[in-house]
Amino acid sequence: MKTMMASGLAALVLTTVVGVSNASVIPSLTAAAAIVSSAATPFSRERVQLTDEVLANLSLTIGNSSISNTFQFADAIHENGSQRSCKVMPGSPLWPSDRHWDLFDVLLGHRLVKTVPLAAPCFPNWPEYDVDKCTIITGDWMTSNTHMNDPASIMLPLYEGRTCMPPGYNYTSSCELGGYPAYVVNASNVAQIQLAINFARNQNLRLVVKNTGHDFNGKAAGKGALSIWTHWLKDMAFYSHYHAANGYVGPAMKVGAGIQVWEAYEYAKRHDVTVLGGEAVTVGLGGGYTAGGGHSPLSSLYGMAADQVLAMEVVLANGRFITANSTHHSDIFWMLRGGGGSTIGVVTSLTIKAYPKLPTTAVTFNFTVHDAPNASAFWQGVRSYLDHIEAFVDAGTYGYYYVGASPLEIGTDPGSTDYYFRMESFIAPNMTIAETKSLLAPWFEVLDHQNISYTPWYNHADNFHDTWAVAFPQEYVGTAMVKTASRLMPRSVFQSATLRERTFAAHQDAIEQSLFIAGFHVSGTGIAVSPRNDTSVLPAWRDALAHVIVGTQWTSNATWETVYNSSLRVTQWMDVLREIAPESGAYMSEGDLLEPNQQQAFYGTNYPMLYALKQKYDPTGLFYALTAVGAEDWEVQTTDPVPYSWNNNGRLCPVPGL
Ligand SMILES: Cc1cc2nc3c(=O)[nH]c(=O)nc-3n(C[C@H](O)[C@H](O)[C@H](O)COP(=O)(O)OP(=O)(O)OC[C@H]3O[C@@H](n4cnc5c(N)ncnc54)[C@H](O)[C@@H]3O)c2cc1C
Ligand SMILES: *[C@@H]1O[C@H](CO)[C@@H](O)[C@H](O)[C@H]1NC(C)=O
Ligand SMILES: *[C@@H]1O[C@H](CO)[C@@H](O)[C@H](O)[C@H]1NC(C)=O
Ligand SMILES: *[C@@H]1O[C@H](CO)[C@@H](O)[C@H](O)[C@H]1NC(C)=O
Ligand SMILES: *[C@@H]1O[C@H](CO)[C@@H](O)[C@H](O)[C@H]1NC(C)=O
Ligand SMILES: *[C@@H]1O[C@H](CO)[C@@H](O)[C@H](O)[C@H]1NC(C)=O
Ligand SMILES: *[C@@H]1O[C@H](CO)[C@@H](O)[C@H](O)[C@H]1NC(C)=O
Ligand SMILES: *[C@@H]1O[C@H](CO)[C@@H](O)[C@H](O)[C@H]1NC(C)=O
Ligand SMILES: *[C@@H]1O[C@H](CO)[C@@H](O)[C@H](O)[C@H]1NC(C)=O
Ligand SMILES: *[C@@H]1O[C@H](CO)[C@@H](O)[C@H](O)[C@H]1NC(C)=O
Ligand SMILES: *[C@@H]1O[C@H](CO)[C@@H](O)[C@H](O)[C@H]1NC(C)=O
Ligand SMILES: *[C@@H]1O[C@H](CO)[C@@H](O)[C@H](O)[C@H]1NC(C)=O
Ligand SMILES: *[C@@H]1O[C@H](CO)[C@@H](O)[C@H](O)[C@H]1NC(C)=O
Repeated sequence: MKTMMASGLAALVLTTVVGVSNASVIPSLTAAAAIVSSAATPFSRERVQLTDEVLANLSLTIGNSSISNTFQFADAIHENGSQRSCKVMPGSPLWPSDRHWDLFDVLLGHRLVKTVPLAAPCFPNWPEYDVDKCTIITGDWMTSNTHMNDPASIMLPLYEGRTCMPPGYNYTSSCELGGYPAYVVNASNVAQIQLAINFARNQNLRLVVKNTGHDFNGKAAGKGALSIWTHWLKDMAFYSHYHAANGYVGPAMKVGAGIQVWEAYEYAKRHDVTVLGGEAVTVGLGGGYTAGGGHSPLSSLYGMAADQVLAMEVVLANGRFITANSTHHSDIFWMLRGGGGSTIGVVTSLTIKAYPKLPTTAVTFNFTVHDAPNASAFWQGVRSYLDHIEAFVDAGTYGYYYVGASPLEIGTDPGSTDYYFRMESFIAPNMTIAETKSLLAPWFEVLDHQNISYTPWYNHADNFHDTWAVAFPQEYVGTAMVKTASRLMPRSVFQSATLRERTFAAHQDAIEQSLFIAGFHVSGTGIAVSPRNDTSVLPAWRDALAHVIVGTQWTSNATWETVYNSSLRVTQWMDVLREIAPESGAYMSEGDLLEPNQQQAFYGTNYPMLYALKQKYDPTGLFYALTAVGAEDWEVQTTDPVPYSWNNNGRLCPVPGL
C-alpha cells in the first residue's frame, strides 16, 4: 500500500534543496503519511493521508518554516488568506524555484510530471521529437484513449488554445505549452492530493483538476497551473447490503474518482447489478460527469447520476480530507452532486446506488433525404419523432440522435442538402424487442406512410451492459473545429402543438443554416423512482424531455476570427430554443461557454446557495474552471486574439473591481 522510495535519496535531495544538515532521514511524505481510517470502508489509497503530525515532522527536519509552511493546511496557517490576486505564473519571481519543485516531487513519492504537450513528438524544436511517435499520435488523435491517458491533454483542445496540434489538425506550425498546466501530480493516494492542494493554495498557483479531459469547455486545462490528475484512482468495491446515511439499504458500488463509464458498467455486470453512467465509453463516471449531474441511457428510468450518490470522499480546498453524506457535511454533499467539478475540492471516490440486473433493448437506425421521396417527406419523419418524444420518455426510454446534412452522416457540410437523421441508439430499459417495437410503432407508421426507408437494428440482452456495449461505439474527440450550445426542452414544450412545431422548425432551420444537431430524448426524473429534490442538479433537468445540442464546424486551419464569429453565431442561433423554453436551462457539462445568463442557465435556482458554499469552503478561490461555480469572479487573460475567458490560454486573475 505504501509507495516506498529510497529514503536515502529523499534525505539527499532535501539536503541539497533546503540545506538540511541534520542528516535525519525523510522519506517521501506519501510514504510517511499516516495511515488513517475515516470512511466506513476507505480504499487503501484513501487511508494514506497527510496529517498535522506528518507536517510537524517535516517542519522539524527541514528546519526552515518558509519552506515547510508551503505544505501546510489552510487552518494551520494563522493568516487571513482570503485576499485574491492574479495566480503566480512560471517565470515570476514568486514562482517556486526548481529546487522547491524537486522537494515537492520527493514528498509526492515522485509523482510530479512536468507537462510535455501530447503532440510534441511532431515538432523538431521539442526534445521529444520523434517521427514515428508523431505518426501514431496523429493516427490516434481522435480517439478518446489518446487524451485520457495523457497527464494534461484535453479532448476539446480549442479551450487550451490549440497550441500544439498534430499535422492535419493544426492551426499553427509550432508547438507551445499554451493553456496546458506547467506540472501535473499523477495522484495515487489522498496524501498526494492534500499536498498538491496545500502547495497550490499557499503558493497562489493556479490549480486545475484533470480526470479524463472530456469536458466540453476544457475545464481540465489552465495555463501555468499545477494540475491534479485523478485518472489512476481506479479502485472499485461492491456491497450487496450497503447502509447509507439517507436510510437506503441495498446494493451499492464504490468507485474511485478515475473510474470511467465502461469500467463501472463491466464491474456492475460482474456483480449482477446495474449502475448509471453516460452513454460514452470513456467519460469519467467518478469525476466531472456525476459532479455536473450526469445524464444516462437509464435516466428516464432512474434519474440523474448525481441522484445515485450515497456518500463521497473529498479533499477540500483547505487540504482536509472528509467523508460527506446526507448526515455529515451534508452541505458539501449537496453541492458536489450537481454543482459541477472543480468547485471546492477534489473528490476521491463516490459510493453509488446499484439496481438489479436490467434486461434492455437498443434500436439503431437512420434515414437520409435519399431514403425519402423528397425533402419534405424527410422532415415529416423528423417531425414525427418530436411528436412522440413525450411518450418515449414516459416509457422510460432514452434516445441519442443526430440531424445534419452530409453524405457521410457526420456533421453538416455548409450548403449541403444531404439531410440525414440518425438514431445512434434508442435505449429501452426493461423492455423486450416486441415491447420496444410497439412503442416505436406510431412513429414508424409515419415513416412508412411517408415512404421513408429505414432499417431498424434491434439488440436485446438480459443486462444493460451488453446492450449498451453494442449500442454505443467509442466516442470521437480531439478536434478544435466545433462549437456547441445546448438547451433542455421541458415537457410543456412537447405538450403544446405550437411550441412543439416551433421546436421542429428550429431543428430544420439549424440544418438549413449549416449547423448540426446532436440531441437526446431523456428526462432527469426517472419513472421508476420517486422525484428527487435533495441534490444540486439543475432543476430544469427534472422537467426536461429533451437535451438538444446544436453546433457548428470550421476547418482546422481556421483563424481565431473565424472561431470567434462562428462561436457567436451558434450562441445567437440558440436564442430560438431559449425563446421556446425561457424558463428552462442548459446542461452545464455540455453547455456553451458563452451561454447568456450563464449561472441561471447552468445552475438555476441553486446558484445562490452554490455560490455561498463556494465562498465558505474555498474563500481564496483555489479552484477555478471556465463556467464553474464562482468562475465569474475571475478572468483568464487569454493571449489568443479572442476575448478574455474564451479559453484557458492565459493568466488567471480576479475580475477587476470585484
Ligand atoms: C464524447 C463525450 C460524450 C459525453 N457523454 C455524456 C453523457 O452521456 N452524459 C453526460 O452527462 N455527459 C456526457 N458528456 C459530458 C461529460 O459529462 C463532461 O464532459 C464531464 O465534465 C466529464 O467529466 P470528466 O471527469 O470525464 O472530465 P474532465 O474534463 O477531466 O473533468 C471535468 C470537470 O470536472 C472536474 N473534475 C474531474 N474530476 C474531479 C474530481 N475528482 N474532483 C473535483 N473535480 C473534478 C475537472 O476539473 C473539470 O472541471 C460527454 C462528453 C463527451 C466529450
Ligand atoms: C513523527 O516523528 C516521530 C519521531 O521521529 C515518529 O515517532 C512518528 O512516527 C512520526 N510521525 C509521522 C506521522 O510520521
Ligand atoms: C529558508 O528558505 C528560504 C527559501 O529557500 C530561503 O530564502 C531562506 O534563506 C531560508 N532560511 C534559512 C534560515 O535558511
Ligand atoms: C483577520 O480577519 C478577522 C475578521 O475579518 C479580523 O478581525 C482580523 O483582524 C484579521 N487579521 C489579520 C491579521 O488581518
Ligand atoms: C500544419 O503543420 C504543417 C506541418 O508542420 C505545416 O506545413 C502547416 O503549415 C501547418 N498549418 C498551418 C495552418 O499552420
Ligand atoms: C501515472 O500513474 C500510473 C499508475 O500509477 C502509471 O501507470 C502511469 O505510467 C503514470 N503516468 C505518468 C505520465 O507518470
Ligand atoms: C457519514 O459520514 C461520516 C463521516 O463524515 C461517517 O462517520 C458516517 O459513518 C457516515 N454515515 C454512514 C451511514 O455511512
Ligand atoms: C444507417 O443504417 C444502415 C442500415 O441499418 C446501416 O447499414 C448504416 O451503416 C447506417 N449508417 C450509419 C452511418 O450508421
Ligand atoms: C420492469 O418491468 C416489470 C414488468 O412490467 C415491472 O414489474 C418492474 O417494476 C419493472 N422494473 C423497473 C425498474 O421499472
Ligand atoms: C413529397 O413526398 C411526399 C410523400 O411521398 C408526397 O406526399 C409529397 O407530395 C411530395 N412533395 C413534393 C413537393 O414533391
Ligand atoms: C408510397 O409508395 C407507394 C408505392 O410506391 C405509393 O403507392 C404511395 O402513393 C406512396 N405514398 C406516398 C405518400 O407517397
Ligand atoms: C423535497 O421533497 C420532500 C418530499 O417530497 C419534501 O418534504 C421537502 O420539503 C422537499 N424539499 C425541498 C427543499 O423542496
Ligand atoms: C485552410 O485550408 C484549406 C485547404 O484545406 C484552404 O482552402 C483554406 O484557404 C485554408 N484557410 C486558411 C484560413 O488558411
